[in-house]
Amino acid sequence: MVSKWQRTQSVGETQFTAVSDYTRRIWGDEQTFLNKHGRAPSLNVGSGACPVKCDVNIDPLLPSDVKAVGESLPLKDEVFGTVAVFSVLDHVLDDGQVLREAHRVLKRNGLFILMQSVLGLRGKIWLLRHRDMNHMRHYLWDWQLRRKLRRAGFVVNQWKIKWYNHDRVVYAVCSKQLLFGCE
Ligand SMILES: C[S@@+](CC[C@H](N)C(=O)[O-])C[C@H]1O[C@@H](n2cnc3c(N)ncnc32)[C@H](O)[C@@H]1O
Repeated sequence: MVSKWQRTQSVGETQFTAVSDYTRRIWGDEQTFLNKHGRAPSLNVGSGACPVKCDVNIDPLLPSDVKAVGESLPLKDEVFGTVAVFSVLDHVLDDGQVLREAHRVLKRNGLFILMQSVLGLRGKIWLLRHRDMNHMRHYLWDWQLRRKLRRAGFVVNQWKIKWYNHDRVVYAVCSKQLLFGCE
């Protein structure tokens, strides 16, 4: 049986093969963010067709260095200076688990860089009127995403909103919340 996850990926990918100016702008901004905040070694989870590459690139479906899902990274704890998750959380089965895995493989002083669309008013209205077959979920409000990050153990250092046509996108830079007195 084809799961909801498989169905959303196949629809999403056929549409994603046509690279538009819109996509190129987003990739350019992802690269700028990574250049500014990235620390080696870097990991890109759900790297997909994106030309923005890290030292290790992981994707379950498209060509990459490692074929794996973000919910279960075949990597050791605390090895990466940067973990990037660009436009992936709305495509995965369990977004909270992907964030927890990103947190696990990030070094104590590492940075987590997230790019994620959080719907603006037009997006919310569109969603009321259409059945979306391309995504597992949508984020309607910033606080939903911030709460997920906090629950996965991240502290948000920077929260930047960018608009691409009518689409509202969040770029977040987060560090690991360190728990003292537990070891
Ligand atoms: C919209 S594309 C984004 C690709 C790229 N990060 C970018 O910025 O262009 C979503 C990607 O998430 C990947 N993906 C889907 N489910 C995933 C999962 N459970 N874990 C990791 N990646 C996943 C897909 O294969 C696809 O490459």
